[in-house]
Amino acid sequence: MKIGIDKIGFYTPHLYVDMNKLAVARHVEPEKFTIGIGQSQMAVPPLTQDSVTLAANAALEILDEEDRNQIDLVIFGTESGIDHSKSAAVYVHHLLGINPHARSIEMKQACYSTTAAMQLAKGHIALHPEKKALVLASDIARYGLNTGGEATQGAGAVAIVISANPSIMELESESAYFTNDIMDFWRPVYSDTAFVDGKFSNEQYIAFFNQVWGQYKEQTGATLEDFEAICFHLPYTKMGLKALRTVLDETSEAVQERLLNHYQISTTYNRNVGNIYTGSLYLSLLSFLEQAQNLQAGTKIGLYSYGSGAVGEFFAGVLQPNFEQHVQRDKHEKLLANRKELSIAEYEEVFQQTLPTDGSTVELDINQDPAIICLAGVTENKRQYVNKNN
Ligand code: COA
Repeated sequence: MKIGIDKIGFYTPHLYVDMNKLAVARHVEPEKFTIGIGQSQMAVPPLTQDSVTLAANAALEILDEEDRNQIDLVIFGTESGIDHSKSAAVYVHHLLGINPHARSIEMKQACYSTTAAMQLAKGHIALHPEKKALVLASDIARYGLNTGGEATQGAGAVAIVISANPSIMELESESAYFTNDIMDFWRPVYSDTAFVDGKFSNEQYIAFFNQVWGQYKEQTGATLEDFEAICFHLPYTKMGLKALRTVLDETSEAVQERLLNHYQISTTYNRNVGNIYTGSLYLSLLSFLEQAQNLQAGTKIGLYSYGSGAVGEFFAGVLQPNFEQHVQRDKHEKLLANRKELSIAEYEEVFQQTLPTDGSTVELDINQDPAIICLAGVTENKRQYVNKNN
């Protein structure tokens, strides 16, 4: 039985900054951000968007009534959740009107958790092929103003429906994964910004890629030639390229050229959104599915997932007939094109706005936010969400 991605949705906030302008404000050469790091624009979340609303907005564009009835598992991958106890999945389950006979949980392992969620969802569908699972990948990447990681922030969410006989991509069973306890990036529970050893995290990301790719080749006998493209977890678009380059000498020049060209296409949305942590790999996959030309059914795409701390995994998917009718290129191009650019001063102001932590009430102006699902305020330590369609 084929199991895999039946639908894929995406959402990012309506505000962004231009990386050239951020570079000027930080007294850095713009090419460092646009070429050296590989980012053109960076999404900025207003206070009316958090990881819950971003995920709910991403899922809203793909779910129909049949999905709402058939989904019996909601898994929320995030490392910028809003509660240490209650899962973000329960909020989204409610906001989207999914039937009550469902399991809803949140998972965490830095940027890797969504891949674990995908594999768990796949196992669930293998046991219950008539059901569907909703996997949500949603994050706000925050390092802080004037920090080394500032240029690699971002915000957004990807929502994926996993089912039997999927319309978009079958996920293959073979997979290679690896865990090692390291401190390359972490966020203690008392901090709302991440700590990162940027150089070490680069090294480990590449070392884990070499490890799981080597393991995958041994398990499956695969070579680079088997893949039309490899999509990477992309904290910033240069990072995957560095990993890809370390294995290119395993193949012919023609295959190298194909993988490098397709790598660029697979970074299209990430380059203009920034880091969305758990969703970054799946945003890269979406970029490739929507922006590549003439992809055929049967095409195999490799996927490299990495979550600091750290866990890595390499696996693959196969495109299904007419998959292109089930992705939404025009809609996502419009979503990005219709955003509002913030000046650096405006971005800094938005960045520093915070919700109360003393139980006091705040009401937010959701009319300033074009998203359908917004955070409308906080009362007695409870976030108040609004679905404008209801
Ligand atoms: N033109 C073109 N490239 C330039 C440049 C210019 N004018 N100036 C610098 N660069 C290049 C550098 O050569 C370097 O390229 P390389 O990585 O291929 O060597 C790149 O830009 C970055 O420069 P660097 O000096 O290393 O930047 P930095 O010390 O500010 O650190 C990060 C950059 C990405 C490491 C930092 O932003 C960070 O820590 N981000 C978070 C990383 C992360 O998300 N990790 C966790 C998840 S896996």
